[in-house]
Amino acid sequence: MTIPTTLLSSGHEMPLLGLGTWPLDDHASARAVAGAIGLGYRLIDTASRYENEIGVGQGIAASGVDRADLFVTTKLRGADQGYDATRDALRGSLDRLGLDYVDLYLIHWPLPRLDRYVESYRAMIDLAAEGLIRSIGVSNFREHHLDRLIAETSHVPAVNQIQLSPALARTGLRRFLTERGITVEGWSPLGQEEGVLDEPVIQAIATAHGRTVGQVVLRWHVQQGIITIPKSARPERQRANAEIFDFELTDDDMTQIASLDRGEDAARDSDEHEEF
Ligand SMILES: NC(=O)c1ccc[n+]([C@@H]2O[C@H](COP(=O)([O-])OP(=O)(O)OC[C@H]3O[C@@H](n4cnc5c(N)ncnc54)[C@H](OP(=O)(O)O)[C@@H]3O)[C@@H](O)[C@H]2O)c1
Repeated sequence: MTIPTTLLSSGHEMPLLGLGTWPLDDHASARAVAGAIGLGYRLIDTASRYENEIGVGQGIAASGVDRADLFVTTKLRGADQGYDATRDALRGSLDRLGLDYVDLYLIHWPLPRLDRYVESYRAMIDLAAEGLIRSIGVSNFREHHLDRLIAETSHVPAVNQIQLSPALARTGLRRFLTERGITVEGWSPLGQEEGVLDEPVIQAIATAHGRTVGQVVLRWHVQQGIITIPKSARPERQRANAEIFDFELTDDDMTQIASLDRGEDAARDSDEHEEF
């Protein structure tokens, strides 16, 4: 199975689909990651906060695939924001992963109350120059966080990983990101909490295409150039989730799916949400 890639503003290629690893522990993530890579996955998404970087690293090592052919993302946890703390945090993540560099390092949440995301980002720019990060990005950043980050660092993040599904289509934020050359990556892509997989609209489209509801939702992402990272610990679902590059949703399908959007206010509030 070959998963297409998209070109980031950093000049690096990133697979359009990868494996999410939250909330897998070390043992489960090692198995899930090795299995997914065996199926053809090349993008793996983890975070310091998931406390499974050791397992993810073990899964990568066990896969037997050349590290250069993989795209590994991890994230800076809230507790580690700040210039020096960010430098230490990335080294800790690399040690746990057993890697010399990560392909993408994200600020996990902006945490504006701390007011440290700009200095954290400056540390990431320096770490990239030192060869420890290939592409720098953010997660859960809204327009005003990005305006400030770009104004104060003159650097545009390659990626913003945001909560995104047909129920949380984030059309305004996505337009803002696209206009600035920031690639959109969606977390919780299946919209489980919003019941997306049970929506009759999705079920009817799945039936019409002879696909599963999960495949229709994931196709909705990648057909719009959105990078998607569904988590599954089950090999059969990992396989089905990646088999979405051989069919196309019609304009009518896309219009019907657009009716499920609950609007920006339904997404988690990036100014208020805190996790460390
Ligand atoms: N940046 C952030 O703040 C942030 C926040 C949350 C998540 N993330 C990342 O995004 C990844 C994905 O988000 P998520 O895990 O919240 O949501 P998700 O991938 O949309 O959904 C995962 C859940 O759906 C199940 N599942 C997977 N494929 C399915 C299918 N085809 N049909 C039905 N159920 C299916 C999985 O169970 P099984 O394992 O049993 O298949 C799991 O319970 C995470 O793993 C993490 O890496 C990032």
